Amino acid sequence: MSRAAGAVINLAALRHNLQQARQLAPHTRIMAVVKANAYGHGIAPVAQALHETDAFAVACLEEALAIRHAGLAHPIVLLEGVFSEAELNEAAHNGCEVVVHDARQLALVEAARLQHAVSVWLKVDTGMNRLGFPPAQTRLLWQRLTVARAVRGPVRLMTHLACADDSTNPRTRTQLQLFATATAGIQTERSIANSAGILAWPDSHADWVRPGILLYGVSPFVGQTGAEENLIPAMTMTTELIAVKSLKKGDAVGYGGAWVAPEDMPLGIAAIGYGDGYPRHAPNGTPVLVDGMRVPLVGRVSMDMISVDLRALPGAQVGDRVVLWGPDLPVEEIARAAGTIPYELLCGITQRVKFSVVDANNATAAAMRSVGQ
Ligand SMILES: Cc1ncc(COP(=O)(O)O)c(C=O)c1O
Repeated sequence: MSRAAGAVINLAALRHNLQQARQLAPHTRIMAVVKANAYGHGIAPVAQALHETDAFAVACLEEALAIRHAGLAHPIVLLEGVFSEAELNEAAHNGCEVVVHDARQLALVEAARLQHAVSVWLKVDTGMNRLGFPPAQTRLLWQRLTVARAVRGPVRLMTHLACADDSTNPRTRTQLQLFATATAGIQTERSIANSAGILAWPDSHADWVRPGILLYGVSPFVGQTGAEENLIPAMTMTTELIAVKSLKKGDAVGYGGAWVAPEDMPLGIAAIGYGDGYPRHAPNGTPVLVDGMRVPLVGRVSMDMISVDLRALPGAQVGDRVVLWGPDLPVEEIARAAGTIPYELLCGITQRVKFSVVDANNATAAAMRSVGQ
């Protein structure tokens, strides 16, 4: 039998979440962020499922080309821009729009002689201190880019929020004010909001929003789940029990014997581990679904396997379905238990995990889950 670890991607959930983004930001256009292999979900099927978006955003040219190979002709924004004239040429040739975030990229674009002119987003650093120019330079740089021969106008403006996932943090208000002042009077489109901005900061919606994590049905806010925002998780991470053992009281489980059976009890071994992207630091008690019932993980996560306490499910058998996260077990909860963020878990699934897609609306998905498909 081949390895059971799999990630099932629900295309209907992706479409639903895009629809949610539209309802939350009804007066803006949407740039669906599908970088990092669509947050680990698979860039081609995700981009196809999200074809009703207005544009896509990715980190680099290779990711943009994967979208083109999937047959989509949407505008694609390269969020980190390009790093050579050859790359700029290829980006322009493939209908990509480039972010210009530093002096090197500015010089590249100003000097370029391109066959196809390129659309440009000027990135302003309003406090993230990652990419972008100081706000005070915005007007001058916008004018320079606007007259650059390689640029197809209009030059648009972008910034990124550092703390939007904390609705009480005053830095977001400061960033919004800085951006408003720096760009005042410039006649062009603007983009500010990531998922947290869309959900918590209506003032950040501007002309284009850039949802990432919410499209995958996951909340950007610590302590919340996507379901609370009427989102549907798009990924279900599954495997099977490959062994069921009877422990005696005092038996130690796994590497380091880090967990000891408090009584005679059944233990399940599931085929998933850090070699698949399950977090190695998930502690004792991290919830796992076996046949739809929550049971606690016990002992250390190893490369290929985890152990679960089956006292609540004494009838569990080899082959029973195990869910690590999905609509019935929020990835946010697993991330919190493991001391990380859901973004990292979703992006961290490894190549040996088998990906499949379903296209199941809510009712069908719920029915599928209840029959353990
Ligand atoms: C520039 C930029 N915009 C938007 C996003 C989407 O963010 P989120 O997934 O939190 O919605 C990202 C993701 O990191 C980003 O780097």
